[in-house]
Amino acid sequence: MHKDHVFVLRNGVEVPEIGFGTWQIPNEEAYESVTYALKSGYTHIDTANAYKNEENVGKAVRDFDIAREDVFVTSKLNSNIKDYDGTIERFNETMENLGLDYLDLYLIHAPWPWSEVGKDCTEGNIQAWKAMEELYKAGKIRSIGVSNFEISDLQAIIDNCEIVPFVNQIPFYIGRDQEELLAFCKQHEIMVEAYSPLATGEILNSEEIKEIAEKYDCTPAQICIRYCIQKDTLPLPKSTHEGRIVENLQVDFEISEEDMARLDAIEDVRKK
Ligand code: A2P
Repeated sequence: MHKDHVFVLRNGVEVPEIGFGTWQIPNEEAYESVTYALKSGYTHIDTANAYKNEENVGKAVRDFDIAREDVFVTSKLNSNIKDYDGTIERFNETMENLGLDYLDLYLIHAPWPWSEVGKDCTEGNIQAWKAMEELYKAGKIRSIGVSNFEISDLQAIIDNCEIVPFVNQIPFYIGRDQEELLAFCKQHEIMVEAYSPLATGEILNSEEIKEIAEKYDCTPAQICIRYCIQKDTLPLPKSTHEGRIVENLQVDFEISEEDMARLDAIEDVRKK
């Protein structure tokens, strides 16, 4: 459910509607970037063990003058960990890195190790998920989910485990609107988070997006972020530049249905 700048998960947990993505932000820069994001009003920070910046992401959150319950922190289980004990161990490492008592959202980073994209790890994902269910029930994580999961990967968890993932974090941007996967997630009340909402910057030069941005007196990046929200997905834009960090949060406008249709028709820039 989406209301008043938050998405509400099936278990009632509220997630601020835009998250600050930290993929590709080195640990040395993460402290400054996250601090700036918090200063600018972000209350949702997304990291992962694999990003190797959890230490400074956590330190920035702890040092900032904000109550723990007022900031939503996500991290992810490394994609090569596909067993129960390994999951618990890696989770503990993440919590030590972050220096926090609990996590708001923990995701299986991918259905297969990044070094073996496409490998069938169904059984491993089920084992990892069972460990995550235990951590969730023990109150160490407020919500659990997955990332980069296709319909068949999700179906295996639904069929073999107790808790349906609350979240699936996937690449989503204008031109890559993942219609089928999105419909499946909606049907199972799985909230979709959009990573790379700017196609890692590649769509910002689109003439069509620029034209629409002019009409709304905003920037192409703001159109891209707003587009995700209006598609009921939660965008996680990443930037290390202060002006852009602020800009990416200022999306309080409405794209008309007609313009959404125009944006829907844009081709995937990465497939050209
Ligand atoms: P930088 O970090 O130098 O600001 P995505 O969120 O899709 O992964 O895209 C991130 C990329 O887009 C980064 O290269 C980032 O560069 C760039 N970027 C982020 N926000 C903006 C913005 N508002 N305007 C232009 N480029 C942006």
